[in-house]
Amino acid sequence: MKRPPPSHHLLATLREDGRPANRSVAFLGFHGDTACVLFQTDSRSPKAAEIRRHPWVEACMHLPDTQEQFRLHGTASLHGADTPDELLRKERCKAWAGLPFDIREWFSGPPPSQIPKSPPEAFRHPVPGPHDPPTESFVLGLLRLSSVDYLNFEHGRRQHYSSAAGTDWQSKEVRSGKGAILS
Ligand SMILES: Cc1cc2nc3c(=O)[nH]c(=O)nc-3n(C[C@H](O)[C@H](O)[C@H](O)COP(=O)(O)O)c2cc1C
Repeated sequence: MKRPPPSHHLLATLREDGRPANRSVAFLGFHGDTACVLFQTDSRSPKAAEIRRHPWVEACMHLPDTQEQFRLHGTASLHGADTPDELLRKERCKAWAGLPFDIREWFSGPPPSQIPKSPPEAFRHPVPGPHDPPTESFVLGLLRLSSVDYLNFEHGRRQHYSSAAGTDWQSKEVRSGKGAILS
């Protein structure tokens, strides 16, 4: 069965005090043919600071049409215009070009933490167009997968995939079919 592509996933990070933080981020697909998931964010956001401080993250993706869940575990890194990876630089420009005006405006405005106390003038600036270079605040996140927990809720099947270096994936069946799947 062909799966409709997911539009976003939930990305969990660790706050400075050790408590979890979780939020939706757009799913931008994979980085080339690697086991790295791409997402976009604001380098000035709390989640960016959390990733820089503690790169281990977990993303959770639910495909409602097929009742499948993917828990994606690994380390995240953030990449701007100075990334040495040419493909990543291209992917960043492509992601920027796909943003609607109001999101490009958001990346061009004050840092998220200063929005409540920013005067209206802080928002009046030229907003770069879709084919202009992205703002410095616009970064691509790369989630380098080290394990994936797959659950097919409808068929009661659960599979665990792991890899030490993003290649040579090992697969282990946790549940093969109908039955209790909550453990
Ligand atoms: C459907 C949906 C998609 C979103 N996509 C993104 C995204 O791609 N990148 C992002 O930084 N925030 C995205 N957000 C906003 C985040 O969920 C979050 O509220 C915001 O980034 C602040 O998170 P933080 O304070 O933990 O850094 C999205 C929210 C929703 C509801």
